[in-house]
Amino acid sequence: MKNIAVITSGGDAPGMNAALRAVVRKAVYNNYDVYAFERGYQGILEKEFQKMNSRSVSDILQRGGTILKSARCLEFKKIEARREAKKTLDTLEIDTLVVIGGDGSFKGALQLEKLGVKTICIPGTIDNDLGYTDYTIGFDTAITTVIEAVSKLRDTSSSHNRVFVVEVMGRNCGDIALYAGLSSGAENIIVPEVKYDINEIIQSVKRGMLSGKSHNIILVAEDVLDVFELSRKIEKETDISSRVAVIGHLQRGGSPTAFDRILATRMGSYAIDLIKDNKSGLAVGIKGNDIIGIDIDKALNKKDIIDKNMYELFKILAK
Ligand code: F6P
Repeated sequence: MKNIAVITSGGDAPGMNAALRAVVRKAVYNNYDVYAFERGYQGILEKEFQKMNSRSVSDILQRGGTILKSARCLEFKKIEARREAKKTLDTLEIDTLVVIGGDGSFKGALQLEKLGVKTICIPGTIDNDLGYTDYTIGFDTAITTVIEAVSKLRDTSSSHNRVFVVEVMGRNCGDIALYAGLSSGAENIIVPEVKYDINEIIQSVKRGMLSGKSHNIILVAEDVLDVFELSRKIEKETDISSRVAVIGHLQRGGSPTAFDRILATRMGSYAIDLIKDNKSGLAVGIKGNDIIGIDIDKALNKKDIIDKNMYELFKILAK
């Protein structure tokens, strides 16, 4: 018999609900009591929790967002706040806190570990920016959303012989742009990990149109450059009409894909397996098709490279 606590934290991601469902039901299967706090670490500070049972997670597997709500809790950076959180968890006799979130949430868990709170992390973020795991929960759904958007933009791009500069999310990680670019047939991608040359991109737009392309899609990872400026420069230097689409938070919503549901379910279940084995301080991930657990501090080693082979393949095919 153990008491488990669970939160969803940071930017939400499709599949967080599926992970929560697996955590709760697998915990119930093991006769554990589960307490869910609302709005991530904020909810622990404000003692906002509910006791969960199998019915609490009915009908959520397919739902985007998170029924627990989420927040980025700046206060948690203060040691006093974390001590307060430990007190609340101790009062409920919590054995382990399960944190479903991205790198910021993992950092919070690591700090709690240092205070003696046992934690297990599950990677829920659309960015796929954690190097220790092949995929994070929500990434597949986000790229599926981008593919749908690009298909629609390509229709209107072709009708008007236009360029579309499309900004996607990713917070310092080019995976959304790379995977969505490869699977939507974009003409160019601009990612933070690879140096880009605006003149080369402009030349490729010209070459494309001269070779008979009726559209040209340029996917840009957020914060790499100003997409509006790029679009204006393209129009000025090519005489080809260009427009901008910022997909934004659409990428964070929607029903999770089959891949994300299965990933979330396997990871949620594995988190409870680790707790059963009295393990803590671990982040759950996937390598190949194996679900793994590695030290949270190692999991936080930033991913600063992009899959070179995939990037090269993109370049070859985007002609
Ligand atoms: O980390 C997920 C993410 O959607 C990033 O891709 C993006 O940079 C950021 O969150 C946006 O944060 P917010 O929802 O707080 O504006």
